[in-house]
Amino acid sequence: MKNYLWKFTDNQGTFYSDNAQRINSLYFPLCNSSPIMSSVTGDLHGDIKTNFNSFLLQPASRIDLNNLKSSRNFWIYLNPKKIWSASGVSKDIATIKNDDFRLEAGLLWQKITRKNKKTGLKAEITSFIPASLEPIEIMYVEITNISSKTVQFIPTAAIPIYGRSCNNLHDHRHVTSLLNRIQKDEFGVIVTPTLSFDESGHKKGNTSYFVFGLDEKSVGPEYIYPTQEEFIGDGSDLEAPVVIYNNLLPDRMSNIQGKEAMGALRFKEKALRPKEYTCFIVLLGITQDKKKIKSIFNRFNSPAKVRRSLETTKYFWQKKSAQILVHSTEGDFDNWFGWVNIQPELRRIFGCSFLPDFDYGKGGRGWRDLWQDCLHLALTNPKEARSLLINNFAGVRIDGSNATIIGQARVEFIADRNNISRVWMDHGIWPLFTAHLYIHQSGDLKILLEKTSYFRDPQLSRAKEKDLSWNPAYGQKLKDRSKKIYKGTILEHLLVQNLIQFFNVGPHNHIRLENADWNDGLDMAYQNGESVTFTAMYGKNLMSLCEIIERLKQKNIVIFKELRILLDSLSNAPINYDSLKEKQRLLGKYFEAVKYEVSGEKVTVEASKLVYDLKKKAEWITRHIQKTEWLKSGFFNGYYNNNKQRVEGMINGAIRMTLVSQTFPIMSGVATEGQVKIILKNVKKYLQDKKLGGFHLNTDFKSEQLSLGRAFSFVYGDKENGAFFNHMAVMFAYCLYARGFAKEGHEVINSIYNMSCDTEKSKIYPCLPEYFNAEGRGMYSYLTGSASWFILTVLTQIFGIRGEYGDLVIEPKLVSDEFKTKKTISITTSFAQRRIEVRFINPSKKDFGKYSISKIILNGRVVAKDLNRGRFVILRDRLLSLTNNNYNVIEVILD
Ligand code: G1P
Repeated sequence: MKNYLWKFTDNQGTFYSDNAQRINSLYFPLCNSSPIMSSVTGDLHGDIKTNFNSFLLQPASRIDLNNLKSSRNFWIYLNPKKIWSASGVSKDIATIKNDDFRLEAGLLWQKITRKNKKTGLKAEITSFIPASLEPIEIMYVEITNISSKTVQFIPTAAIPIYGRSCNNLHDHRHVTSLLNRIQKDEFGVIVTPTLSFDESGHKKGNTSYFVFGLDEKSVGPEYIYPTQEEFIGDGSDLEAPVVIYNNLLPDRMSNIQGKEAMGALRFKEKALRPKEYTCFIVLLGITQDKKKIKSIFNRFNSPAKVRRSLETTKYFWQKKSAQILVHSTEGDFDNWFGWVNIQPELRRIFGCSFLPDFDYGKGGRGWRDLWQDCLHLALTNPKEARSLLINNFAGVRIDGSNATIIGQARVEFIADRNNISRVWMDHGIWPLFTAHLYIHQSGDLKILLEKTSYFRDPQLSRAKEKDLSWNPAYGQKLKDRSKKIYKGTILEHLLVQNLIQFFNVGPHNHIRLENADWNDGLDMAYQNGESVTFTAMYGKNLMSLCEIIERLKQKNIVIFKELRILLDSLSNAPINYDSLKEKQRLLGKYFEAVKYEVSGEKVTVEASKLVYDLKKKAEWITRHIQKTEWLKSGFFNGYYNNNKQRVEGMINGAIRMTLVSQTFPIMSGVATEGQVKIILKNVKKYLQDKKLGGFHLNTDFKSEQLSLGRAFSFVYGDKENGAFFNHMAVMFAYCLYARGFAKEGHEVINSIYNMSCDTEKSKIYPCLPEYFNAEGRGMYSYLTGSASWFILTVLTQIFGIRGEYGDLVIEPKLVSDEFKTKKTISITTSFAQRRIEVRFINPSKKDFGKYSISKIILNGRVVAKDLNRGRFVILRDRLLSLTNNNYNVIEVILD
């Protein structure tokens, strides 16, 4: 194997690979937002689906990508007999082994090229899903004669149609094939199962799966094999189908209904003179409306139409990727960044499911993911983010918890798909973090006063109780005593989420871990577990609330009456925060008051008094953590387990330390500057990998932690047990930059980029994966919250371009390493609906800490000079008056 897996070929993220087909489990995503979603490998394995219950190709997990026989095949039969799979999937290894292979891919298409000397043919197969939203994947096949003789061959596209729910893989697999009603069409095969067997019961089937094909003259197949039974034949399989190997014509008399379906389309024999080429189009689609198939087909029924669609699709994704553009000293980084930049969009479409690594999901995203993916939207399109944010707040329950799965359609909240009542204690953190970013970028403080409802289902008092009388007819919106849907402001929702948690404490007066926090794997400490690290973040949130309330400049804040219970310091009987009993009692009182409904009565609280109460609570948290959780070992303890024992520090003669437990005290400001320095020394000592340079999520605890969570039952070095978990690593980098530790933040960011692009180890295409395992292999590609955080860190911290209540802040934290080969680097983004490129000019290539901003030039006009500061603010109005709607250049001179 060559020592690189891929190389970029332009500055738009396009790359090629000559060995991609040799890496098991390497996949590429294809999608549009209709939604149809695919994964495709170098030999066209992978699946296609619109949701969990509608898979056109058999669902493929990581391990299936090279083990499954089901793939998108394209057979060539030559006379005298020679058989070649143009996609490289055939039992006849001798024929395909020496194929000259190349994969090219870009935003968002894949092309494989195979040249086969024995047949004298070259096949180029381009796969993409049109950006124009039709529910199809397109295979565009070009066959060229590369020999010096005329080559005559019979081409057959062969797509096995699975056509049902993922559930049926091992649940009524055979019985569901009996539902298949297969229709032959002039251009292919349509399969419409009579019933859908899925989690919602047996319903009349209305999903149709189709495989249509045509040649360059828009002529359909000459013969169709509509069942796998006939196509494969007895004693064989999809890699050596009998009709191909024995050149058999279909048996027109055979029964085709109620069988495993096949989209095998045999085209008329072709003869190509040397250098001549021909092409075929194969459309693989899923629709709820069979009648639409013809009109979809008509939009792609010629090579010219398909090629046009491919160009439109490329343009669509390139535009998305270019929303934030980096011009650093390293072209590869800029290209790679372009891929990371579309990942938040990929996660919006795929959710946390539907790519081969993500075989635990049934669609949709978790609450935490929803909000973190929104960070990216708040940066790139605050206008669109606004309505999404308001909508998402309707998922908050009156007990501060929330619906956990958010479906593909925006408004669909699902309490829990598996009907298990669970509460993640960190869920209240993220909405404020995201809303605050949105407010900074847009200046739109008014969003806080927008009103929305609360989520209501049978789960009460943070899943401690269940409302047995509740039935779905109630709807998903909380009502008041007069049975009217209750609505409160966004600010009120934020207060609910953060105030409740202040009182929701465990044995050491830190906030209860409940069913887990950010680390989903800490799920076995429900009764007594505590998350100190997210307690620190709740402290920060309470402070952030003070800040936005003060900024809002309202004399009074309106809230529902019962919420006042939690503003104890404004009452006649403020409680003692050191007493967990008093806290729990007060929380119990609140839960009782809002258990089934709210009164609907509103009260006003003076903003300054509200701020006083919140500050008091926030300060208490900081003091408490400082007093109790700074360890002699020189870092913070972040957890207590179900046995009420401390999780981190020197335990059984070995250091136990997690990166999560250090990140949030730093991010929240609980850690002092001195402590950050000590933490950094210890993170390097205990968590940095000496060989790979990356930072592990935790040290090896060397034993299962059944009173903490499943994470420690995973092998050390993978997933939530000590992997190089990018989400946390990026958040760690983010908070280091935010606290002014640019050199150290840069080291973390660099380690992630280097591990991604060390393709000999990472074995993935350009993207930021969820994590790298102990061998440095990239795992769970594309769908990860770390992408949003990565973009956030690069834009707002490293380049330091961000909003502050609507004004533009320029506060670079670029280190000299970033100016290695150039004196000017830049980032292009949008701000205040203006496209801006911010160029950082560092003539003496000085390091962070050594330079300051000396001059700002906007569109060639000096805005400020003779400065000597780390940060410069351009007021929004001034920015608007000095910039235009097209393209604006801000030059920042660093001296
Ligand atoms: C995933 C989940 C995220 C969770 C994390 C750790 O991370 O999506 O919600 O916090 O695991 O358990 P991601 O896929 O975002 O990288």
